[in-house]
Amino acid sequence: MQALWNSKFSRDGFLYGTEVNNFIKENSHLIKKGSKVLCLGEGEGRNALFLAKKGLHVEALDASDIGLKKLQQRALKENVAITIRHTLLENWQAAHKYDVIISTFIHLKRDEQKNMFIKAIDALEENGYFIAEFFSIDQMNFLSGGPKNTNLLYQLDELYKLFSSLPCTIHKLSQEIVVLDEGKGHRGEASVIRMVLKREV
Ligand SMILES: C[S@@+](CC[C@H](N)C(=O)[O-])C[C@H]1O[C@@H](n2cnc3c(N)ncnc32)[C@H](O)[C@@H]1O
Repeated sequence: MQALWNSKFSRDGFLYGTEVNNFIKENSHLIKKGSKVLCLGEGEGRNALFLAKKGLHVEALDASDIGLKKLQQRALKENVAITIRHTLLENWQAAHKYDVIISTFIHLKRDEQKNMFIKAIDALEENGYFIAEFFSIDQMNFLSGGPKNTNLLYQLDELYKLFSSLPCTIHKLSQEIVVLDEGKGHRGEASVIRMVLKREV
């Protein structure tokens, strides 16, 4: 997996572009000034850069050292600080709590998806937000990006069941057809699941 992403990110340019993901941007008003934000599976760093430029304290976690290196180079160029965590999500344990955790399009196996959500909700401060967008299982029918493997896609009813059992309030959980325009990697009509979860007190 790490070799796959390193090879994708070794090419020139930025696979998913340099602009922040639309859903993260739309929900960035939820992130208060001075917040500690963690980006899971952040790759080449388009979301982390956007959030860091807003003056937030940003940490970016990813399995790909090549992706993270490109992120660091951009951060340096744009004169913002971002803390890098080069690790597999499966090995990650939060050292402290975060005000907000975000993730876009991390393709995990079903059991790893579940573990990510459990760990992320646990790592949030009370009233903190988890904001994310992933490809739904119906993305099998589209050619706009993402893995052609149902085990790596996300299923709405499973997520609803899981989140209902976790200490969080579901502010948004929906499957939508959107048009992606994110570099060469995500382009065209896509079936995504978008979520905003709030950690309960
Ligand atoms: C499709 S890319 C998305 C990158 C970024 N979130 C974006 O939207 O531009 C998926 C990213 O997840 C990372 N990734 C996949 N599985 C991972 C895991 N188990 N632990 C940590 N990172 C992982 C990959 O290295 C890659 O950077």
